[in-house]
Amino acid sequence: MSKITDEIKKRRTFAIISHPDAGKTTLTEKFLLYGGAINQAGSVKGKATAKHAVSDWMEIEKERGISVTSSVLQFNYGRYCINILDTPGHQDFSEDTYRTLMAADSAVMVIDASKGVEAQTRKLFKVCVMRHIPIFTFINKMDREAMDTFELLDDIEKELGIATCPVNWPIGSGKAFRGVYDRNEEEIELFFDTKKGTTTGEVKKIRVDHPDVDQYLDPEQKDQLLGEIELLDGASATFDQEMVDRGELSPVFFGSALTNFGVETFLQHFLKMTTSPLPRHSDKGDIDPMTEKDFSAFVFKIQANMNKAHRDRIAFMRICSGEFDAGMDAFHIQGGKKVRLSQPQQMMASERKMIEKAYGGDIIGIFDPGIFSIGDTITTSQERYAYEGIPTFAPEHFARVRQVDTMKRKQFIKGINQIAQEGAIQIFQEFNTGMEEIIVGVVGVLQFDVLKYRLKNEYGVEIILETLPYEYIRWIENEEIDMDRLTGTSDMKKIKDLKGRPLLLFVHEWSIRMTLERNEGLRLSEFGRS
Ligand code: G4P
Repeated sequence: MSKITDEIKKRRTFAIISHPDAGKTTLTEKFLLYGGAINQAGSVKGKATAKHAVSDWMEIEKERGISVTSSVLQFNYGRYCINILDTPGHQDFSEDTYRTLMAADSAVMVIDASKGVEAQTRKLFKVCVMRHIPIFTFINKMDREAMDTFELLDDIEKELGIATCPVNWPIGSGKAFRGVYDRNEEEIELFFDTKKGTTTGEVKKIRVDHPDVDQYLDPEQKDQLLGEIELLDGASATFDQEMVDRGELSPVFFGSALTNFGVETFLQHFLKMTTSPLPRHSDKGDIDPMTEKDFSAFVFKIQANMNKAHRDRIAFMRICSGEFDAGMDAFHIQGGKKVRLSQPQQMMASERKMIEKAYGGDIIGIFDPGIFSIGDTITTSQERYAYEGIPTFAPEHFARVRQVDTMKRKQFIKGINQIAQEGAIQIFQEFNTGMEEIIVGVVGVLQFDVLKYRLKNEYGVEIILETLPYEYIRWIENEEIDMDRLTGTSDMKKIKDLKGRPLLLFVHEWSIRMTLERNEGLRLSEFGRS
């Protein structure tokens, strides 16, 4: 096997998804500790005071005095090379968050044991399902009062429509939390509330039928556990790696990230069950990193440099195959030109650094002189294939944009287009009029503030945003449809995107159904194509 395929096989590239406060940051930090990437245990401080638009990642970075924007953390654990993708789940929830999932090969879903499935998890989960990537569940905060375990699993199955397979099973919760029962090993991993700051805190295990178990478990707890094990063995889905691979079955683990319980066990199982970089769809068929020798990558995120003086940008790419060499030339498919991939950067857990080499599965940031768009393919292959585009996700908040000083039209157009290209906002126009009126759509309302702030600071343009009542947007899949003859509901609005493609906005969800009923053959989609 070649060195390149060896390197790619070691890669595990995944995103951690959760609702704010479920424990994503804490869990990530514990992963980094186990990988030896950081050696200072202790929770990431300053979150409560953190201003919006600052991701937890930035907090971690600030804490450790490293540079501010990042997209991925890379570290080694055993024989694996792990890439964790940042999906900010807080107030700065935006389309970027969704797009990041396009670059991942699997997802870890963190759920707060006292809350079950929450809104943001649901949204991110939808994208994972759309991509059929494996999803692993870590039910966190077992050291606090938790929902009934069966109810929690039921909640995941019903809310998210995915089967679950508990790999371990909790014994009590909150003050009565005693640990987890490993269903394969038939062993109990005992919980001690003393491991907060440890890295490789020794794990104490005991077989469930060992007489010493009674020292740790009350008789009722033991009875309950034995009863639940029996019930589980009869009722729950059996582990099936192929179903996991297709994203139809989620292996479930229980633990407590804060007290460092169950985290390493989870990491070890997860790394074995998840996948190394897989083939990706292109217009010339699937490109398999195990057989494709040439370098190929696609852009999934573009970020303008925070430095106002240089309006340069970084294009973040997911490498799909081959080996990357700093400064190499490659072909930019959409631009139809050869490009030099310069100033490659990668976020290692401890620092942002220039890199020399990277492999399929890795994420790199490349200096972008303004030529790349989200979804673009770059490759050294003579075959000139393009990876499947990245879907445009449905914004849920809309506003009409008005300029305060109409003289600054040029700067306004330039700025708003730039910000839209980065994917923070989407811009639309009235269906029947020209460029005069701009409607902006965002996934998270914070993006409205970001837009205002950036236009003022970076382009000297002040705007007024007039919020619109629409909450649902649908792309029209059969574009040949005659828009003038389309009959909708009174709360429907016709708009178009910058490429002139028609879309519909609705205030109520039921209007979508009604519009579909009134227009035979009409096909609407929640996702657009970039
Ligand atoms: P997030 O990134 O998903 O938003 O969550 P984060 O890790 O920041 O955790 C949110 C809060 O939950 C933090 O407390 C964190 O310490 C706590 N937490 C995380 N995992 C566990 C756990 O297993 N058990 C318990 N009991 N708490 C947990 P905070 O008070 O909001 O912040 P901080 O001051 O501790 O940083």
